[in-house]
Amino acid sequence: MAIQTHSLPPLPYAYEALEPVISKQIMELHHQKHHQTYVNNLNAALAAQVTATQANDVRTLISLQQKIKFNGGGHINHSLFWKNLTPAGTPENDRTKVAPSLRDAIAARWGSHEGFVKAFSAELLGLQGSGWGWLVSKEGPRGQLEIVTTKDQDPVAKTDVPIFGVDMWEHAYYLQYLNNKAGYVEGIWKILNWAEAEKRYTSGVENLLKL
Ligand SMILES: [Fe+2]
Repeated sequence: MAIQTHSLPPLPYAYEALEPVISKQIMELHHQKHHQTYVNNLNAALAAQVTATQANDVRTLISLQQKIKFNGGGHINHSLFWKNLTPAGTPENDRTKVAPSLRDAIAARWGSHEGFVKAFSAELLGLQGSGWGWLVSKEGPRGQLEIVTTKDQDPVAKTDVPIFGVDMWEHAYYLQYLNNKAGYVEGIWKILNWAEAEKRYTSGVENLLKL
């Protein structure tokens, strides 16, 4: 049985485009090394799963589950992350113009944009170990907004729409920010792609998750 292999999606901007918030060096390593490794390991695990299925090797199949979860999650999460960022000052970055529905929903949920930023940032900074912070729409597009965190490379719950995510693994910021996690989180707000966030909030991400 032939299986479809996954490949690294190209970044929607140049490696240096998110500077000064995220350096070119971090972006190159993060995309070309880290994300590529998740893709490679996912492909290897899926191929091994086919072989083990044909051999009726249940012990191997069980051992592959964690690898598929970790590397498949890494592939999905990073693919979402690259697209929910954009260079500062681009039209997509201007939340006052490109995210009318999401802006109203955020204001209704947290009182104001500033209230939301405070709550989301606190959640990110409270995350212990490696993981992700997400704004999600519960149970599909235009649902209840919630801030959630996921551990390691776990994706958000299947029924939730990930509006945007922030990678809180050290590999996402350490080379530039060292232990100044708060500085990294503060910078993220300057490069969020609000047009993409609005699209996910109103229409979902079905296509993006079928990588
Ligand atoms: Fe990452």
